[in-house]
Amino acid sequence: MSNQPKTNQAEALFQPFSIGPLQLANRLVMAPMTRGFSPQGVPGEDVAAYYARRARHGTGLIITEGTLINDPAAGSGATLPSFYGEAALAGWRNVARAVHEAGGRIMPQLWHVGMARKAGDSPNPEEPPVGPSGLSLDGEQVTEPLSTARIEALIEAYGQAAADAKAAGFDGIELHGAHGYLIDQFFWEKTNRRTDEYGGDLVKRTRFAVEAIKAARRAVGPDFPIGFRFSQWKMSDYEAKLVNTPAELEAFLTPLTEAGVDLFHASTRRYWEPEFEGSSLNLAGWTKKITGKPVITVGSVGLDAEFTGARTADTSGIGGLVDRLEAGEFDLVAIGRVLISDPEWPEKIRRGETDRLLPYRAEDLGRLV
Ligand code: FNR
Repeated sequence: MSNQPKTNQAEALFQPFSIGPLQLANRLVMAPMTRGFSPQGVPGEDVAAYYARRARHGTGLIITEGTLINDPAAGSGATLPSFYGEAALAGWRNVARAVHEAGGRIMPQLWHVGMARKAGDSPNPEEPPVGPSGLSLDGEQVTEPLSTARIEALIEAYGQAAADAKAAGFDGIELHGAHGYLIDQFFWEKTNRRTDEYGGDLVKRTRFAVEAIKAARRAVGPDFPIGFRFSQWKMSDYEAKLVNTPAELEAFLTPLTEAGVDLFHASTRRYWEPEFEGSSLNLAGWTKKITGKPVITVGSVGLDAEFTGARTADTSGIGGLVDRLEAGEFDLVAIGRVLISDPEWPEKIRRGETDRLLPYRAEDLGRLV
């Protein structure tokens, strides 16, 4: 474990941080991770205990697994959690209460999967998929382009979910605008061929996200944090680039910022990789520089090289992460897979108990550790 920092080196991760009125105990965030433990879309006591365990052991902010907004094509609700309907919302209220009792903060990640990657893969077997132009991520025509009326209903569904999150006692929301799902499908030229106000150049393709953010803002008022997650990559296409230059990133982020985002979550697979040539800043770093908003970084924190694909031994250590945080490149650090297997990871890092860290094991995806 030579790549882990000494206790004092990790100190910067344990400084408090505020997003408007929301106070976080430290800089560690649980990354949103789908688990599929919510029968009929309802998160139960086991899900509440799973998130509360992370809060109790030092994760300052939890972003829940993607939870489906109220649209029949949002995704399959067999085991993925819903974020609508009395039973699911009561389950989520219980999750938020449990996390608060454990001393943590929590935001649901609001999700609509949109079109599948391939024509045959419907996200919900009972419902035809929807997307800006009805195109799969591979570019096949699968369904009709979304009608304006359905787009408006979807925007309203994001607003309703935001209102429900606030009413259920959550501390904010995160809109899932990353990884090639519905909101992201509007961002991409290949999946958004619309010629109305929801399509066109990169800025015009942000329109759907902008309207969803505004609907959420109208629903929650000025003091409830709205987070927005985005990525360059989509689904299994890790080489995809939504933007190629800092100027394009600025064109993309400015409408989202102006619509009311309080917190950006720049999803990358390896936090140490520079985003553009000529600077060591990662995507989160560029996002903070451009927007001036609080930003979360993510990607292979604390993972062994076996999982990161890193070529050199020290890139997956967290020493470099702490240096970047201290330099102000980003404000918060999301941890994904490491927290699947080790709910006590933050506490152990804080205490310098690196010999007690549990490695990530893919088997743990089959249960709620
Ligand atoms: C994810 N990820 C993810 N991202 C997201 O925005 N919404 C989601 O629901 C999920 N679901 C999900 C499930 C599982 C099992 C994994 C492993 C990942 C991506 C996740 O939030 C994170 O960005 C990546 O895992 C990278 O972080 P780590 O794992 O390298 O720390």
